[in-house]
Amino acid sequence: MSLPRSVLVVGSGGREHTLVRSLAASPARPRVLCAPGNAGIAQDATCLPVAADDVPGLVALAQHEKIEFVVVGPEVPLSLGLVDALLKVGIPAYGPKADGARLEASKVFTKQLLVKYGIPTAPSAVFTEVAPALAYLRTRPIPIVVKADGLAAGKGVIVAQTLAEADAAVHDMLEGGKFGNSGKQVLIEDCLYGEETSILVVVSGKHYAILPTSQDHKRIGDGDTGPNTGGMGTYSPAEVVTPALYAQIERDIVRPSVDAIAAEGIDFRGTLFIGIMLTPTGPQVLEYNTRFGDPETQVVIPRLKTDLLGLLWAAARGQLTTTPLDVRPDYALCVVVAAQGYPDSYAKGAPIEFPASLPANVTIYHAGTAKNAQGQIVMAGGRVLGVTALAPTLRGAADSAYAVCDQLRCTTKYYRRDIGARQLNRK
Ligand code: AMP
Ligand code: GLY
Repeated sequence: MSLPRSVLVVGSGGREHTLVRSLAASPARPRVLCAPGNAGIAQDATCLPVAADDVPGLVALAQHEKIEFVVVGPEVPLSLGLVDALLKVGIPAYGPKADGARLEASKVFTKQLLVKYGIPTAPSAVFTEVAPALAYLRTRPIPIVVKADGLAAGKGVIVAQTLAEADAAVHDMLEGGKFGNSGKQVLIEDCLYGEETSILVVVSGKHYAILPTSQDHKRIGDGDTGPNTGGMGTYSPAEVVTPALYAQIERDIVRPSVDAIAAEGIDFRGTLFIGIMLTPTGPQVLEYNTRFGDPETQVVIPRLKTDLLGLLWAAARGQLTTTPLDVRPDYALCVVVAAQGYPDSYAKGAPIEFPASLPANVTIYHAGTAKNAQGQIVMAGGRVLGVTALAPTLRGAADSAYAVCDQLRCTTKYYRRDIGARQLNRK
């Protein structure tokens, strides 16, 4: 199978920086471009200023640059049909078409699929009107989860600790216009309890390859406190997924999900990211995403020995065979460095000074960074950097990552101190 000589990565976060690095390291040595990218990606690839949601602009860019393969990072361009538009002009792309992207863009659609195919998930109901939603809430145990149906940049899920909070979420979404059209339908779901794990699967029709397991840290504060964020850190492997649980997840969730999607007539070629709660009665699906996770990618991809370009290309071309991947035994841990104030409002523009050199086992992936007029790298987003370390032990990876975080000089940096603590404390 001959590999593409040029690749365009779409997006601008730590996930895309990781993908760019890994694709560029392929033995095929492709030319790697990124749109729009960020200040760190620009050190590894040619960045071009086309927004990730500008579908016609990205298609024109790919044609102009004679791109042979496009890898799409974020969910929004997928749901806008970027892959459909690229395929129409003959450019192969990794990522689902709009029909597959619905599995992330509509929680109601996904819930219906899970129920229809008997894939384990929490009991739920769907509402477009306030009164029946409030009545339903009064029949369920509290805490309870209220979810906006559509995309909401990771903010559309309210785990309500009281009935009043759940009522307010229903009002906000159905009447208050919170989340716009994404909140016109709500899914009310029973609360599940346990540890979460992210299972990322490279899917190509009925074939798939499961990427290494990982665990995200969604809350802003140490000890899993405060509001939800896009993700404050990750580690891999997630040993809470024992070999027995892994086998159960593959048998009861991964294989049935891939088969269900194909049975619905969706030719899915991209990443199926399955958010799973490991409950006392077994693993249950919380959600599907239809892209790589951020910051899961920053720990999962560096552990791969399998060539990422070859893997994604085979999946996009429908030539993937269901096989285990070649994975490094090292542990990986990523600490997300954010701007103080995130996930609420935060300031941009503070310069970041990086250590003069990095240990060989540490990589800094950029997310919200830009260059200012003086050529300094500055904070330009909520999540700013992902510091990933690989080491023979999780403790070693954490120590290496935190040593570099502490050396970063920036007046407004914030990061959690306890990434990996669940697994470290379990031992
Ligand atoms: P989602 O976008 O559906 O993954 O939801 C975001 C986060 O909300 C998840 O990672 C969980 O932490 C939490 N969550 C979602 N659904 C539930 C549920 N049924 N029970 C408990 N927590 C949930
Ligand atoms: N880290 C969770 C996500 O990418 O949705």
